Amino acid sequence: MSKEQKLAFGIDIGGSGIKGAPVDVETGEFLGERVRIPTPENSTPEAVCEVVKELLEEFDLPADVPIGVAFPAPLDHGVVLKIANLDPSWEGRNIEKLISEATGRTVYSLNDADAAGFAEVKYGAAKDTDGVVLLATLGTGIGSALIVEGHLVPNTELGHLQLDGFDAESRAADSARTREDLSWEVWAARLQRYFSHVELLLSPDLIVVGGGVSKHHKEFLPLLDLRAKIIPAELRNAAGISGAAAYAADRARHGRKAGKKKAKKD
Ligand code: BGC
Repeated sequence: MSKEQKLAFGIDIGGSGIKGAPVDVETGEFLGERVRIPTPENSTPEAVCEVVKELLEEFDLPADVPIGVAFPAPLDHGVVLKIANLDPSWEGRNIEKLISEATGRTVYSLNDADAAGFAEVKYGAAKDTDGVVLLATLGTGIGSALIVEGHLVPNTELGHLQLDGFDAESRAADSARTREDLSWEVWAARLQRYFSHVELLLSPDLIVVGGGVSKHHKEFLPLLDLRAKIIPAELRNAAGISGAAAYAADRARHGRKAGKKKAKKD
């Protein structure tokens, strides 16, 4: 691989920050400092695209570097299907097209948890694992990624399973733990209920737990009793960026077009 082919740029759009870094897609390592800009309070498509443009301007990138964007919603070839944790006006918009127009660059997008799962399988905790790997990110919401024999099944959205009359993420995400000031034990009981159900549906070989709270994994993972092995993510907050960059490099290499899908609203 030449130096240029090894380089891609990853962007992770979240509810509180928009982060980006150049990535060596052979190793998943950052090739420069990560930049973080707070997500605008009014997180409309226009405001977010402006921040992404600002972020890219901080780097001196070749014009044809593949840009990958991890986004906190299910995406149908770039079109936002449903949005829980950013401005509702994103629904129906094509993120690849909007960011390409704002920055003049080719952009490839995927769901944020899918990006993290892709990265953990390629570079991190689930490297070289065969079979069915499930990654769950526990943060503001619950994100999920399902990787089967190395292939990503996109948009699984297992955070929105209906459990005991609730949207699962409203009870078991890390934001529920902090909002309700739950002890590790009480929160772990909710996670047990959640992961047992997911395990019943999918029988994964390995469950990887990501999100900021995974750095405290010793407090809650040993309290869970599951058939599958359950381990903390390795890449932590780098996973979204590395995964988005790796995905963009893959799509660029295979010549798959960006922003092709027509959005209802653009
Ligand atoms: C969204 C998912 C996202 C997760 C984590 C959920 O509310 O529906 O698409 O992956 O939050 O950001």
